[in-house]
Amino acid sequence: MTATEIRQHFLDFFKDKHHRIVPSAPLVIKGDPTLMFTNAGMNQFKDYFLGTARPEWRRIADTQKCLRVSGKHNDLEEVGIDTYHHTMFEMLGNWSFGDYFKKEAVEWAWELLTNVYRLPAGQLYATVFEGDPSDGLEADDEAFAIWKAIVPEERILYGSKKDNFWEMGDSGPCGPCSEIHIDLRDEEERRAVPGRSLVNTGHPLVIEIWNLVFIQFNRRADGVLENLPERHVDTGMGFERLVMAVQGKSSNYDTDVFQPLISSISRNAGMRYGEDEKADIAIRVIADHIRAVAFAVADGQLPSNTGAGYVIRRILRRAVRYGFTYLNFSEPFMQNLMPVLSEQLGSVFPEIRAQEDFVARVIREEEQAFLRTLENGIRIFEEEYRELSKGGKAERILISGETAFRLYDTFGFPIDLTVLLAREKGAGVDLVGFEKAMAVQKSRSKGAAQKQTGDWVVLDPGTDTEFVGYESLECEARILRYRQTADQKKMSYQVVLNRTPFYAESGGQVGDTGFIRAGNDRIHILNTVKENELTVHELERIPPDPITELHCSVDADRRRKTENNHSCTHLLHAALRQVLGLHVQQKGSLVSPDILRFDFSHFGKMTDEEIEAVERIVNERIRQDIPRLEQRQVPIEEAKAMGAMALFGEKYGNTVRVITFDTAFSVELCGGTHVPSTGKIGFFKIISESSIAAGVRRIEALTARGAEQYVNEHFRLLDDIRQMVNNPKDLQIAVAQLVEDKSRLLRQIEQLQAEKQRQLREDLAGRALRGPAGDVIVARVQLPTADALRKISFELKNQFEKLFMVLAAEVDGKPQIAVMIGESLLKSGELDASKIIKDLAREIQGGGGGQPFFATAGGKDAGGLDRVVAKGLELAHKYGLSDKG
Ligand code: SER
Repeated sequence: MTATEIRQHFLDFFKDKHHRIVPSAPLVIKGDPTLMFTNAGMNQFKDYFLGTARPEWRRIADTQKCLRVSGKHNDLEEVGIDTYHHTMFEMLGNWSFGDYFKKEAVEWAWELLTNVYRLPAGQLYATVFEGDPSDGLEADDEAFAIWKAIVPEERILYGSKKDNFWEMGDSGPCGPCSEIHIDLRDEEERRAVPGRSLVNTGHPLVIEIWNLVFIQFNRRADGVLENLPERHVDTGMGFERLVMAVQGKSSNYDTDVFQPLISSISRNAGMRYGEDEKADIAIRVIADHIRAVAFAVADGQLPSNTGAGYVIRRILRRAVRYGFTYLNFSEPFMQNLMPVLSEQLGSVFPEIRAQEDFVARVIREEEQAFLRTLENGIRIFEEEYRELSKGGKAERILISGETAFRLYDTFGFPIDLTVLLAREKGAGVDLVGFEKAMAVQKSRSKGAAQKQTGDWVVLDPGTDTEFVGYESLECEARILRYRQTADQKKMSYQVVLNRTPFYAESGGQVGDTGFIRAGNDRIHILNTVKENELTVHELERIPPDPITELHCSVDADRRRKTENNHSCTHLLHAALRQVLGLHVQQKGSLVSPDILRFDFSHFGKMTDEEIEAVERIVNERIRQDIPRLEQRQVPIEEAKAMGAMALFGEKYGNTVRVITFDTAFSVELCGGTHVPSTGKIGFFKIISESSIAAGVRRIEALTARGAEQYVNEHFRLLDDIRQMVNNPKDLQIAVAQLVEDKSRLLRQIEQLQAEKQRQLREDLAGRALRGPAGDVIVARVQLPTADALRKISFELKNQFEKLFMVLAAEVDGKPQIAVMIGESLLKSGELDASKIIKDLAREIQGGGGGQPFFATAGGKDAGGLDRVVAKGLELAHKYGLSDKG
């Protein structure tokens, strides 16, 4: 069976068992403060388990893109070193939301594995939860009994909380689980050592393939387990491992999931997979990491320096470094794998095929940037290591925290990369020191304060919030639940209401603000956000009696301005596609009351003409006053057929809202709020166009009054300039003339100065006291710059071999002196310009220095310059230089 068939069989099997097959959710999670990436198939259903949203179907199955590289589930260090952990992997899952439970979950899993995939029943083991007194949990004897009816008792094991109690993160839905493990060793080995003793011991061929979780609890933020209203099933099977088992391979990388990538990498490296362990690890790392990086970028996560973007950057850099060190790749190589990946997975995950070029460009740019610093960073590391290993110290070598931090900060080495480099040499890294250096930096750059969130106080178990904000900006409401939150300084509250006119931040549109009134008590709503399916309002305080009826009012002016910008963003998107082409895809947006920001894929700077064309189209559409067409509950397929633009990396339900401004112009899937007709936007003006990443451009623009003000300011500026140049008829010509005049005058001034200096030099030379012992030039001069003083000194030096020169100059009102001693006078060793200057500098309250033949000094008191001259003459006299002989 090919991997494609194996995936399809899974979906077909559960479809037959009345499961609805749904698409994978995006890899990158939005709107869940506890999670950055999808780390399990159940993430997208979290609210169904918690009871905070109702599922449309009680049975669902899918294949889900998952990434386990941060937080509670993190496998990054293992990836590539072993043959069965991955960063991105597919998780096949089936779910019951308050429907079937343990018996069906276990029996169907068994049926699929043994009847459809024909895995050897005798090599399968089941584990069940042994209970945990600290959480007050009993052993899962029910699951044990179900298994006992299927497999002999010796192949059922009880396991601890670590292996057999599944939790999504530090808080959230959880429950006991039953895992299915398979023993893929050959017969001889199986006879020698029983598989039972190898389950959950990290053996590469005795591995877990399927986890059946019986979700019954919610772990609260304070650690307490609470019962959920219903019981659910959440299963997850590692697709890549399943393929290995079904195809009878001993490594995930030997299956057709990875082989095409591996062949491509080995071919590019001019090596064969399976011949050298270190090269093999590198090939596996790259084959794995390209998937994680490519899918994250396709789902809208660009590599960056913070949060999810930094995780992606780290994964990519890990791959680049392995390729650089073990496969001698010194040019970008990851992007070459994109065609293979898109060919392989494009039909299951269309986002990768549709954005192949874009993803490849982003990756290449990122590789290039890292390769530029990689070599230097590795050198720094090697130097430190050599230094530390000098003298062959007995104890383990520890790379200092400062070096690790410098590599991180200056060369972009993720700490795990430095650890890896050290580990390869049997050394360690002072991680405590690294953290310290990091903390110092963080406290310097103020650092986002971590928000502490308490548990919900539930006043009403319902959680559905009716959103009335499309029609109205006011309504009566009740609090369903509230909780306290605190960042470093400030305490605030969050509430969920039964009904709300406040739009929760999403799809780039900022959350509404406003206030709620309880009687005469007015409380500000600071922001409104989505947390998974919940609409959460942030309040400065909670009403004294939280049960009372409230009146909600949205800040209407702010909302209207935001709507102008949101609708205009749609017009802008459509106009960009007309002017630049259909490759333009939205990559992010911010719609606030003050400004709109739109990021999109495009590969070059927009020309002035293109910008103007886009502005013209948008403003035409505004003037046409096109009415908004709003359709709710449109089946997603129908919406797509209407040509509605959907965004990659966005999670859409089965029915969507479609916003149209002229069916032939702008049709978008959108949950945001919009103007009733485009005329309301008034006027549109782009204020900047720039690049934010490889292949991603950003436009910032203003609408309505904001755009008007912007234009007015520019006119005012022009008027001011016009007045400054005496109101000429043609301002442009006048300013051009001004610029030209200026450079001509500058040239003239330079010529005049040069001429003046030549005269000065001639004058000084003519007045030199020439004697047998020396040629003395001591004078007070006027010069425009310190550089001119230096220049004239050197010119005189070339003219007089026995020169003794002291020049006391006033440069821009400040005293400057220069002393020059000719070559033949230096020989005696008696005269030293750098010493003389120190003495002279005192007269002008300054200091200076230089070399024995030439020294300069600056000072504060120009009144002392005459004394400098007198002293200079005295010195000449003292050394007999001015004697006529
Ligand atoms: N949530 C469980 C897991 O991720 C089963 O899907 O292992």
